[in-house]
Amino acid sequence: MKTSYNNWKVEKDEDHFITVTVDKAKTSTNVLSREVLTELQTILDEVKKCSAKALIFQSGKNNGFIAGADVNEFSGFNSYNDALKAIQTGQHLMNSIENLPFPTLALINGFCLGGGMELALACDYRIALDHENCKLGLPEIKLGIHPGFGGTVRANRLLGVFKAMNLMLSGRIISAKSAKKMGLVDDVVATRHFKKSARQWLQNSSHPVQRKRPFYYSLLEFELIRPIVSYILQKNVSKRVQKKHYPAAFELINLWQQYVNDTDLMMKKEAESVASLLSSETAQNLIRVFHLQNQLKSLTHESSQPMQHIHIIGGGVMGGDIAIWCAYKGFTVTVHDKSNEILARLIHRAHQFLSKKSTDKRLIQSVMDRLIPDINNFGLQKADLIIEAIIEDAKAKQHVFKYAEKKARPECIFATNTSSIPLHEIYQVLDNPSRLVGIHFFNPVAKMPLIEVVSSSQTSASAKQMAYAFSGKIGKLPLPVSSTPGFLVNRILMPYLLEAIELYSEGVPATFIDQAAKDFGMPMGPIELADKVGLDICLSVANNLAQSKDVTVPAILKEKVNNGWLGLKSNRGFYNYKKGQPVKGKTAYQGLTLSQVSNRLMFRLFNEAASCLDEKVVENADYLDAGIIFGTGFAPFLGGPIHYIQHQGIEKMDHTLVDLSKNFGERFRPGTGWQHLAPSS
Ligand code: NAI
Repeated sequence: MKTSYNNWKVEKDEDHFITVTVDKAKTSTNVLSREVLTELQTILDEVKKCSAKALIFQSGKNNGFIAGADVNEFSGFNSYNDALKAIQTGQHLMNSIENLPFPTLALINGFCLGGGMELALACDYRIALDHENCKLGLPEIKLGIHPGFGGTVRANRLLGVFKAMNLMLSGRIISAKSAKKMGLVDDVVATRHFKKSARQWLQNSSHPVQRKRPFYYSLLEFELIRPIVSYILQKNVSKRVQKKHYPAAFELINLWQQYVNDTDLMMKKEAESVASLLSSETAQNLIRVFHLQNQLKSLTHESSQPMQHIHIIGGGVMGGDIAIWCAYKGFTVTVHDKSNEILARLIHRAHQFLSKKSTDKRLIQSVMDRLIPDINNFGLQKADLIIEAIIEDAKAKQHVFKYAEKKARPECIFATNTSSIPLHEIYQVLDNPSRLVGIHFFNPVAKMPLIEVVSSSQTSASAKQMAYAFSGKIGKLPLPVSSTPGFLVNRILMPYLLEAIELYSEGVPATFIDQAAKDFGMPMGPIELADKVGLDICLSVANNLAQSKDVTVPAILKEKVNNGWLGLKSNRGFYNYKKGQPVKGKTAYQGLTLSQVSNRLMFRLFNEAASCLDEKVVENADYLDAGIIFGTGFAPFLGGPIHYIQHQGIEKMDHTLVDLSKNFGERFRPGTGWQHLAPSS
């Protein structure tokens, strides 16, 4: 038996245990590329001929088991038939594993996702390592497809329809312990027992494995019950996404409903469904988003300077959330605010947040120990990084940094979380402006994946490097942007929000405006978003932009702020709030159609995006699309604003803008940059 392959190693010991180790050549992460799968088929053809007691799949990489199929290959299919063939090859392989004449076990030492999870599901048993980095899931839905290597069949068989669908429809990644609880793995084992656990488990194992399937799993698959189950699943999914935007989820439910009682047919239909989804625009755009995410991730190199202690000035909405998140991610964090009450509230908030995140009391306590309220601002002297998150006022921020400069260590980097103020308006008071960088978080910090890293002509390489490294350490994606008012995300978002407020002033109901944006594909309507961000923040960003751009700030926004109706945080803004939720009236409105409203909203956004690219606020169109998707939630299935413009056709988009400007004025006049947007430029 051949033992050494490019990406695999096969060993058979004197007890007739075969160990098959995947260690993809020249990469840090195992993925199931075409070459990896072809080699695996050869291995399986060989091992099935030998007399073995059992077979163990394991990873040769410390960082995890298998991260999934090779997403780079997803865009390379020339036709439906090409894609179908590749998927059927994968299915055939997983079936070969299932049909081996001896017990099989996947020893999962870290992430085990997508195709990797499907391989593990094709084994008789699965043992996972008890470690926080051990994450399992079937997240294909996030790429606009669903499992295709028999995963839909095997997950349903193992977990029953509700648990399997929950996993696949949400695409969520779960911990090893949760996987054990739901039945996805057989055992979770501590590091010291991990290697030997596989053998112990297999000593008394049977093949094929006989699992007792609860009766209700089968009951839910009865022909008469299936439509009801399917209805419930579709109803739940429809609360989150629309079928026209994300068809894969609905295809998956349909696949189960139609074919669950016929395994072979379900396999066949599973492959056909994934092949056709793969060639859809939605999937291709979501795959593009996956690559954009990796582009930003690749910026997060290690910093040459140590980074352990973060000092945060301003413990309000943003400073508080940043502090909690940094402590949660392992930093020692001191938080200064001028108000003791704010600091007390912050500690309470931290505890609430952590209790939702984990039931592990020791973990919660260790995070709380790292989060230190600091009314005296002592942390200034020890910090490696100081992040300012006080009110959006250049003078106040200048004052904070001027004082910090007197106290901080010379190598400490200064960061501002300003949403819109260019760095030169702040650093002009500093002796050493090169240490100031913008680290602009988005609200809510725990959920939003993006950070804008703002650099001015003065910002030093080490300050930028620290900002990127810091983003990586706290699990965020850094987007390099230049120091111009509003940077990228707020500058593009603001005209869209202001148009929504303009529509509201014209009498269009808030719910109708929000519905129009959601119909386009935005995750949340602009009126609700403005309330969430805070109307005071919106007003100050709009005012800042108005100083340099042709932006009119609607009177109603000023009125609301003057009345103290700041949105969610004051329980009243454009909506009234009860228990943190907006009280929404009826959506019906006769004056305009939903698409007329969404046209006005979206074309303000597109127009500003074109100008930002032209003015080089970001380096290229990919960064712009990534920023708007990860910073605002812009419909990922459309691939980003610039991608969307190019896909629709520049000329067509330009005409619509000209029409809009005739009806609604100068703010729709095509800005600079449209002529440079042709895909080849
Ligand atoms: P906030 O009003 O909730 O918090 C500001 C905090 O700073 C308050 O607790 C206040 O007591 C404290 N503070 C004010 N002056 C201070 C000083 N000199 N020293 C110490 N503490 C002081 O405001 P929020 O929303 O947290 O915004 C803070 C910064 O973050 C602003 O620059 C804002 O533009 C930016 N930002 C806000 C976002 C949002 O969605 N609210 C999103 C991203 C950035």
